[in-house]
Amino acid sequence: MQTIASPTSPKTGLASPGKEDKRFKVLDATMKRNQYSQDALIEILHKAQEVFGYLEEDVLQYVARALKLPLSRVYGVATFYHLFSLKPSGAHTCVVCLGTACYVKGAGALLDTLKQEIHLQPGETTEDGQISLVTARCIGACGIAPAVVYDGKVLGKQDSHSLLEGIQPWLTAPAQS
Ligand code: FES
Repeated sequence: MQTIASPTSPKTGLASPGKEDKRFKVLDATMKRNQYSQDALIEILHKAQEVFGYLEEDVLQYVARALKLPLSRVYGVATFYHLFSLKPSGAHTCVVCLGTACYVKGAGALLDTLKQEIHLQPGETTEDGQISLVTARCIGACGIAPAVVYDGKVLGKQDSHSLLEGIQPWLTAPAQS
């Protein structure tokens, strides 16, 4: 397994909420391309969802600060449009990247594994409420494809074995928070 380096935004100077998370770098690039325009909020949230799989509070806060918008405005847009989804309901979240590089390296088989082993499909949460499965499109870690994010921690070169190992604690232990 490999992890990836932690980015910080050169423009915003904001520390990325998650360590070892290149997804914020992808988000930064999109905001930069849009010149941090508040009018580009929907497009930026769309990219954020594409990269993270869903819009968690720290991501919404990150976008709000970068665009100098009130968090309430960003929340308002994120909850108004049906194409956006907030954090899944499970106690833990597993994001499988289905971008081209990850798909070519076997991300589809990872989804098959979750389906076969714990009967979990993308967009669903296990019956006990422990694990939500989400898919994303290129989380900025193509060099270590296929990549999976376990509760915000990005791990690369995943296979069925490491995937089941990664979710194992969630299957046996109750949620901590
Ligand atoms: S395609 Fe998965 S990280 Fe780029």
